[in-house]
Formats: sequence, structure tokens, C-alpha cells
Amino acid sequence: MTERKTPETLRSARWFAKDDMRSFAHRSRMMQMGLGPEDWAGRPIIALINTWSEAQPCHLHFRDRALDVKRGIQQAGGHPMELPALSLSESLVKPSTMLYRNLLAMEAEELIRSHPVDGVVLMGGCDKTTPALVMGAISAGVPMIYMPAGPMMRGHYRGRSLGSGSDIWKYWDERRAGAIDDKEWTEIEGGIARSPGHCMTMGTASTMTAIAEAMGLTLPGASSIPAMDANHVRMAAGCGRRVVDMVWENLTPDALVTPASVRNAGVTAMAMGCSTNAVIHLIAMARRAGVTFGLDDFDALGRDVPVIANIRPSGDRYLMEDFYLAGGLRALMARLGERIDPSPITVTGRPIGETLTNAQVHDDDVIRPLDNPIYPEGALAVLRGNLAPDGAVMKPCACAPHLLVNEGRALVFDSYPEMKAATDDPDLDVEPNDVLVLRNAGPIGGPGMPEWGMLPIPIKLIRQGVRDMVRLSDARMSGTSYGACILHCAPEAAVGGPLALLRTGDRVAVDVPGRRLDMLVDEAELARRRAEWVAPAPHHPRGYGAIFARHVTQADQGCDLDVLAPVPGPGIPEPDI
Ligand code: FES
Ligand code: MG
Repeated sequence: MTERKTPETLRSARWFAKDDMRSFAHRSRMMQMGLGPEDWAGRPIIALINTWSEAQPCHLHFRDRALDVKRGIQQAGGHPMELPALSLSESLVKPSTMLYRNLLAMEAEELIRSHPVDGVVLMGGCDKTTPALVMGAISAGVPMIYMPAGPMMRGHYRGRSLGSGSDIWKYWDERRAGAIDDKEWTEIEGGIARSPGHCMTMGTASTMTAIAEAMGLTLPGASSIPAMDANHVRMAAGCGRRVVDMVWENLTPDALVTPASVRNAGVTAMAMGCSTNAVIHLIAMARRAGVTFGLDDFDALGRDVPVIANIRPSGDRYLMEDFYLAGGLRALMARLGERIDPSPITVTGRPIGETLTNAQVHDDDVIRPLDNPIYPEGALAVLRGNLAPDGAVMKPCACAPHLLVNEGRALVFDSYPEMKAATDDPDLDVEPNDVLVLRNAGPIGGPGMPEWGMLPIPIKLIRQGVRDMVRLSDARMSGTSYGACILHCAPEAAVGGPLALLRTGDRVAVDVPGRRLDMLVDEAELARRRAEWVAPAPHHPRGYGAIFARHVTQADQGCDLDVLAPVPGPGIPEPDI
């Protein structure tokens, strides 16, 4: 354990405490804001990295919540300093927020490093904001606490409840089949997202905030509280109070993000029936802390941990508010018993096991007993073979069981528009056991690995009543998606991965129990195709996209930029003052 901080050893004291010209300048500029020594002298300065914006519906309450966080900081004797950051709205940012996750991570890290701050409250929740903020804060290394946005109210229309994402896919297929008219469609549009807060299904947002909590980075129970619940306001103030003490205790993220806490996060994600995106983000966050956690770890957990959260899309009925009322994440983790290591320290400064005592499940249908799970295993599986030597990811529990072992013809598309046009063609030559393939949709090919992996079922099959088929890509898919979608195929096609060599008409064999994914094409033919392969032209001739393409790692390594990985030695020096 590192030494406690004193007013003299606070990081911010380097800016404000000295009797010299630079400190004079810093103090006088604080006074320009109407502040005085009673605000900053000897007090921890706490950054609020706030991802509020008017392009971020999931964080619309963050302007208010920031006030509550500040109230807590001041109650505990700290001084708040709000620093706005890229808001990264999953719904509005194109081509994919994944292109910008690392940009927000860099922004968070450099905001912390360059400003006079002693600790930080990270305000996020919409999909990529959680891993991005956590990655940046781990690298910055100052005490931090994550304040999750909380899920939005449940959607509803005509007496039925609507879940974010999942129900769009479902009703869109019905609309394509001609079963929903314009008026009903508009009603669904107005009913599916009814308040600030992140998606209330078990999508990427709920998955990642649960992972942050299971890793010990939030206050106990914080990730399950609905955004509009008064308890969320109290939780926000609690984050402010607690982070001030974390500064004095010098409780830094390296004490929290450890092999054991990362594994707890993986176990919890599986039990929640997590988004496939969890794989990429947890690997990336762990790597920032120097913790090795990879695809094989996920596959092993996928075989061992039952899905016990009955939340859509894995479950058939409930949404995040039901999960909260059933006891929330603490209750779920407590129910996982020995699968959770009780020893890792959380932001509370106490072992996570202590924070789980007295946690109770109030509804056994929402949080199932271990002997009555939604799925006994199969939240995630990792397939390998000659199509994915570095792995591909799927969600066996979300696909039609007859597709878990499947062989069929490949229908290969090089771009999303080409694939879209073909699947809308009523005369497409396609059969139910064919394999739809989209490539050049990976980290570099997409670019930014868009969530295109739930390829639309061809209209011809939809009209025959087919609702699932094997789909394969180097893309990701939304956490609210479902179906027999094999994703994150690595290495991706755009860097010459084997997916680039597949041709329409080749046979593709999928064996999920055997964890195999192969094209039945002989090696000599593949060598011929490899020799002919030409890399696609880069998407971005300049700018951030060009930097991203030069430095991004493949999906199995978390898609972080290689220059953001930790390096041995003393690290990045503190700024000269
Ligand atoms: Fe923000 Fe789903 S769009 S969490
Ligand atoms: Mg999403």
C-alpha cells in the first residue's frame, strides 16, 4: 500500500502551493473564476470527466448529475473541476463509436495528466464511454471512480414493453415482412427510448457498466440503478464524497485492476449474458493495467458460467429496471458464490466480498438460481480454424440451436451496401443453411469495426419464415443483437486475414461445440488466392483515421492503439510546471 497523501504531497499542490511566479499565475487564474484559497488550498482537486452533450441522449442527465457529484466532493472537503470530454453517442456517431473509443481514452488520460487534479470521477455509460474512460484513467494512474449513467426507463407501446436495440431488429424484420404500417412504426419510434439513461437491455452499455462494477471501479450496486431513480442522484453524490477519500488514501487504479478483479468481471459478464463487445473492451482495459486476459479465458468462462440474468436479449422478458428491483448486480454476484473471488479491493478500499454480504435476490425469475439458469453455459464461445486463426467470437445462447453445427455455401460480400442490396433481392440464390459473409468490416477495414455483424436475413428467406442463419464477419455486433452471428474474425480481411480469401460458393463448416470455424478449401488453392490478394486502399488519407489505421491492434488484442500500451520503466513523466 502506498503512503497516504497530505496537503503538501497532493499532485495539485505542484500547481498552487509554491511561492513562485508560475504558481502565482495559476492562483490568479483560479481567482479569475471567482474562487479563492479556501476553495483549493490543501484540498484535493477532483476532475469530473463529463461526457454530456446534446448529441448524447443517454447522458442527458449528466448536467444535473455533475452538480450532485460536486456536492459530494465539497461535502468531503475537495474541490470539483469539471472537464467536458467527447460524448461518443452510440446512436448518432458514425461510422462507429469504436473508431473513437481510443480517442476518448486518450482524451481522458491527457485531460487528467495535463490538469491540476488529484482524483477523478468518470461520468459515462453509453457503450464505448465506459471502456474508453476506464482505459484512459488506468493509464493516467490517479485515484478514480466510475459513475455509471444508469439504464433508461423501459420502452413501451400498445401495452407491450420495448427493449432498446433488440426490439428494433425484431420489429424491423416484421416491417420488412409487411406486418407493421406507418402509424404503428411511428408509435414504436416514440416509445422505445423514453428517458435519459443508457440502453435498458443487456446490451453493451449494461454489460460494460456491470464489468466496471465487478472490477471494483464503482460504488457497490451503482451500475444497476436506473438513471431517473432518486437513488442515482444519491449515488452521484456518493461518488464525489468517496473519491476525495480515495485521494487521501492514495488508492490508485493499479490496486483495483488486477488479474483477480478482471476475472471477476469476466465471470460476471458471462452470468449477465453479456454483449459480445465485452470481449474486446475487457481485454483492452486489462491490458492498460498490464493484466493479460485473452480469448481463451473468455471461452473457458463461457463453458463454466451459467447465464442467470433473465434480461433481454438472452432472457425473454425482463429489462434492467427489473434487474435492479430484483437486487441488481450485487445480488447476482453474491449468487455466483465461489466463482467470484472475494479478495480484490474496490473503490471502497475494502474487498469486494465484503461489499456483497447481505446482498439478496428478491425475484428468482429475474436473477435465476444457479440450478435453474437461462442457459447452463454459452454466453460466449471462441471459435478457431482456418478462417480465424486468431479467433472469432459468438454467442451460442442467442442463436437457433440447429445452427450450432452447420455446413453451407458461403455468400461473400466485400461491403455493407453490396450485402444490403443482395439481401433485399427477392430472387437471391440463397438457402437457409448458407453462410452469409461480410468482410472488410474489421478494425482497419470498417474502419473502426462497425456493428454490422448481425447481417440482415435475406428477404427471400424472411418470407419463407426463416428468422436465423449463420452469418460471419470481421465486424462486431450490437450487444442487443442476436442470432447465429460469428464476429471479430481475426486477423481481419483488410490486413489479409484468411477471410479475405473466401469466395462465394466455398463451403464453410461451423462446429460450435468443437469450437471450429473452417472453409473447406484446400491449402494449394488458398495459396493461389493469397498470392493474388491485393490490400484494399486506406479509408483515411490523413487525420485521426490515418493514425488509427496505423496503430490499431486486432480484435483478439482489444483494438487499442499499440502506442497506448503500457511500457516498462518509469512511464510518462509528470508535466513540468
Ligand atoms: Fe447509448 Fe445504447 S445508445 S447505450
Ligand atoms: Mg450498443
